[in-house]
Amino acid sequence: MNSVTIHKNKQITIEGGQPMRDVTLLDIYEHHIAQKYLKRSGMAHAIAVAYHAFQLAKEHKVDVDMAAKAGFLHDIGHFTWYRNGKWDYELYRKNDIHPIKGAERAHKLLIRLGENPIQAKATSLAILFHTDSFLPSNDIVRTPLQKVVKWADEKDEEEGGKHHYRKIDPDRAKQSIIGLDKMIDEELSKGADSEETSLPI
Ligand SMILES: [Fe+2]
Repeated sequence: MNSVTIHKNKQITIEGGQPMRDVTLLDIYEHHIAQKYLKRSGMAHAIAVAYHAFQLAKEHKVDVDMAAKAGFLHDIGHFTWYRNGKWDYELYRKNDIHPIKGAERAHKLLIRLGENPIQAKATSLAILFHTDSFLPSNDIVRTPLQKVVKWADEKDEEEGGKHHYRKIDPDRAKQSIIGLDKMIDEELSKGADSEETSLPI
């Protein structure tokens, strides 16, 4: 099983009792690239999947920070498949590569924001494998983190892609992101007592 070793003084620094991360969900949420592309596939869906990924990561003992970030960014690679002003699902189903595009776009964004490169890569790969829809076969073996992100997306899916059209007020979206950041920090601070923590990715 792959694992990432997180050193206490590198990844999780305790300052004045507050656990610190290199990049928070709020940093991502406030970036114009995230705003532009996440709105395309639905900010409400992105936030819901981030929450599901956090809960599933806790249950399966996977890194909650990476899971939530991958959940939040999993659909950042969507293209707009419009024909005559309407989303064309047939065109989308045949030609979509949003997990590939999303993995690359999320990686670039995370690195620009100052993310730990090991985490940025693992998060990006979890986005790449969050669905089988673009793959020629569905026989890939996922890591625990990749499984968690796939399940989180499936939990929020609605028939006919309706989950992409759910709306959320920007203030409520921001408060939800801040709330999830707090939950992640609390969870990480529980594991920061030991000198280093190995978590499956
Ligand atoms: Fe999704």
